[in-house]
Amino acid sequence: MIQAVIFDLDGVLVTTDDSHYEAWKQMADEEGIPFDRQINQRLRGVSRMESLEIILEKSERPYTQDEKRNLAERKNSYYVALINQLTRDALLPGALDTVHALLDMGIRTAIGSSSKNAPAILRQTGIARLFEAVADGNQIKHSKPDPEVFLLAASLLQLPAADCLVVEDADAGVVAGARAGMPVLAVGAVAGHPLADLSAPTLADIDLAAWIRDYNRK
Ligand code: BG6
Ligand code: MG
Repeated sequence: MIQAVIFDLDGVLVTTDDSHYEAWKQMADEEGIPFDRQINQRLRGVSRMESLEIILEKSERPYTQDEKRNLAERKNSYYVALINQLTRDALLPGALDTVHALLDMGIRTAIGSSSKNAPAILRQTGIARLFEAVADGNQIKHSKPDPEVFLLAASLLQLPAADCLVVEDADAGVVAGARAGMPVLAVGAVAGHPLADLSAPTLADIDLAAWIRDYNRK
């Protein structure tokens, strides 16, 4: 029986997936490293340093560990400047309605994000109080596709993994949810993912509360 929904944050609830792209793009342009939205797809759900390694695959020269740390910090400073301007307008279609509908029917809610900036984004958009538990990049050793962040969220809720449904917009995140043994709703570019139990273009296109009600009746 599904008792909770664990939401990824960037690209599922908030438009910050685009802010990640803008910040990496600025850094890559300054370094003269080719970077586009196609490469950006591979950064979804993976940690900051792993994202940097993917971007550096296209670099013409090697970077030392110190230089890599500086590049990652520089990108994060651009990103933080962008998220400091976020308002509720950054919430994605259907996000708030879905969370409220779930809470109204007694389904518990949590965040499972690879981002170290997740707490700041939740505060900035005013949605922090809607989630009982937050598992994020500050608390984990292995980012998605490792299931650690989702298993942590389930343990914070004190629920078995199979009783938590994951909502994801990243290939790495869908894989992580499936590896955690959780049903997965895939949205955005990964809608239709073979490991997902259900899919929708956005949260506005699916009545997740009704789907869970049906699932729990079976
Ligand atoms: C994930 C994003 O939510 O967080 C990734 O999908 C990002 O693109 C990762 O790299 C880490 O984010 P941060 O904020 O810790 O740099
Ligand atoms: Mg995401």
